[in-house]
Amino acid sequence: MERLDKYLCDSGVGTRSQVKAILKAGRVTLDGVSVRDGSMKIDPAVQRVALDGEILGGKRRVVLMLNKPAGYVTATEDKNDKTVMELIPEQYRRMDVKPVGRLDKMTEGLLLFTNDGELLHRLISPKKEVPKVYYARHEGQATEEDVEAFRSGLTLRDGLKCLPAMLEHLGAGESLVTVCEGKYHQVRRMMASRGMTVSYLERRQEGKLSLGDLPRGAVRELTQKEQLDFGEDA
Ligand code: URA
Repeated sequence: MERLDKYLCDSGVGTRSQVKAILKAGRVTLDGVSVRDGSMKIDPAVQRVALDGEILGGKRRVVLMLNKPAGYVTATEDKNDKTVMELIPEQYRRMDVKPVGRLDKMTEGLLLFTNDGELLHRLISPKKEVPKVYYARHEGQATEEDVEAFRSGLTLRDGLKCLPAMLEHLGAGESLVTVCEGKYHQVRRMMASRGMTVSYLERRQEGKLSLGDLPRGAVRELTQKEQLDFGEDA
């Protein structure tokens, strides 16, 4: 048994105060009977809770996109740093979303979150080869030899072999890097192995998903279609 208001929050209906207002407005029914008392104990396994006539099925699956600012670590908790979870609105945190993969503290851009454990597992599996596109500003100039070295699979300074990747020269000290794996500090280390120190890094695309005009620090839900496209890629 659990409290009705908690169940509604956990189902992603809204924040605690939104749920309070929804209950007050008489929009919730329990086995077809209108209920306004959030403190009442319910058993979601046997009782049917509905909002505006639609039966809630517990936690709905949600996939979020965050445009991560620099300065936040990809972790659910950290003693010293701000975490990306602090940028996730409470209504989603209550739904147990977790980051999909990671971005370094100083890297900005596209970071996904989900509460679907199975999807999360598939997406972060090392076998998963979703292409990820990064914009990098760096010292030094990317040459044709660098492009070729990326294409044929770099060997990092510590001997680690990388999968073939794409390096596109955009202008003086600016490149796009496309990689299909996610080793620790992958792009920074790949660029360093060719003598280019990265001073700024932003992930712009992951598979078919791109940041679009999502402002820095903002979060949005993926549409059903985006979720399907992404899930199928996975
Ligand atoms: N490569 C990096 O070096 N850092 C990131 O955050 C992501 C890819």
